[in-house]
Amino acid sequence: MNPSSKTIDELVKKAQEARAHSYSPYSRFKVGAAIRTKSGKVYRGCNIENCSYGLTVCAERVAVYNAVSDGETDFEALAVFTEAKDLTPPCGACRQVLSEFSKDLVIILANPGKQKELKLSELLPMPFNKQSF
Ligand code: THU
Repeated sequence: MNPSSKTIDELVKKAQEARAHSYSPYSRFKVGAAIRTKSGKVYRGCNIENCSYGLTVCAERVAVYNAVSDGETDFEALAVFTEAKDLTPPCGACRQVLSEFSKDLVIILANPGKQKELKLSELLPMPFNKQSF
């Protein structure tokens, strides 16, 4: 079942809140994410950069790892919030990490003026997965 519009609005708000904690002194691009489990718990994440640039972690992965480290792996939806003019879709690495847990995950992209809902399967139609080996 798809999340209700109230659930989606709440998740977007949590992603926006998480964005406030972004540690991004190098790119100055602040990203917030929030992931909701099927049981209704919400975990937040923000991007965390490092002076060794390649060690940067995206907000989406911080949110999902935060949930997994709390024992949660059954997800319904993930919201990503930035203040970029165009909506910010998850990078390829984050798509692959999310696909580990659910292919029918609802992804909500949001900025202060726009919002769009997609399925993870649209963003990553042919993932490398457990069935691949
Ligand atoms: N970033 C995310 O957190 N999520 C995305 O979906 C795209 C990129 C971060 C990584 C880096 O801190 C900054 O945005 C610029 O690439």
